[in-house]
Amino acid sequence: MTTTQRWMPNYGEPYQPVPYRPSRMPQDESLTHAAELRDRMERRRTVRMFSPDPVPEQVVLDAIATASTAPSGAHQQPWTFVLVTDPEVRQRIRDAAEAEERVSYEGRLGEEWLSALRPLGTDAVKPHLTEAPYLIVVFQQRYHLLEDGSTHKHYYVDESVGIAVGMLLTALQVAGLSALTHTPSPMRFLAEVLGRPRNEKAFAVIPVGYPAEDCVVPDLHRKSLDQVLVRI
Ligand SMILES: Cc1cc2nc3c(=O)[nH]c(=O)nc-3n(C[C@H](O)[C@H](O)[C@H](O)COP(=O)(O)O)c2cc1C
Repeated sequence: MTTTQRWMPNYGEPYQPVPYRPSRMPQDESLTHAAELRDRMERRRTVRMFSPDPVPEQVVLDAIATASTAPSGAHQQPWTFVLVTDPEVRQRIRDAAEAEERVSYEGRLGEEWLSALRPLGTDAVKPHLTEAPYLIVVFQQRYHLLEDGSTHKHYYVDESVGIAVGMLLTALQVAGLSALTHTPSPMRFLAEVLGRPRNEKAFAVIPVGYPAEDCVVPDLHRKSLDQVLVRI
């Protein structure tokens, strides 16, 4: 199936293989691309202070389209990306998120969680929700809901949506944009504010834009390759 065709559910249809013959990349090109992407991704930082400067919408749409190429359990593509620019809706999201976050930071998270967050300098105030030019609210579809109200179970939903969000963040970084993976907890208010159907559950809110001129980020260090890699 190509991206130009409209996807339709095909539960129970027979296996119909088609040829797949991508041209093989020369190894020196592979080495160059892999190293360039590694360098670019090493420069990625989660940004919490955004510039209001406009961003071409097509860049964001292309990043979402890239995310939607992600592999998924049984190819069920159990994701919805809600792109929010309406200032009034963003203010409602911010108000609801900050109300939840206040309860969280005032004790609901517990001391162990709060101490894990302390080096990040985060608190219950979330200006990025109204200041970044775009919010992408990612929903996971716990099951497929057909127009007649019948349902089909989805498999490996968390894993599939997590991979899609990783690809979204990568696509945004490659296009020169910054983002925040924000998970206000609990996130039930997002489905209500955005009027999502009953099979969808919020997964993350991703403000997108350029960093503010005075943007700062926590001084974090990543694990080295030898700390994450086991060769057998
Ligand atoms: C699943 C997930 C949830 C996160 N939730 C939040 C959040 O609610 N608020 C926030 O400020 N950052 C959040 N982050 C961002 C992390 O704090 C950030 O990725 C981490 O500190 C590493 O920083 P870096 O992305 O700049 O490398 C989240 C990241 C992930 C992957």
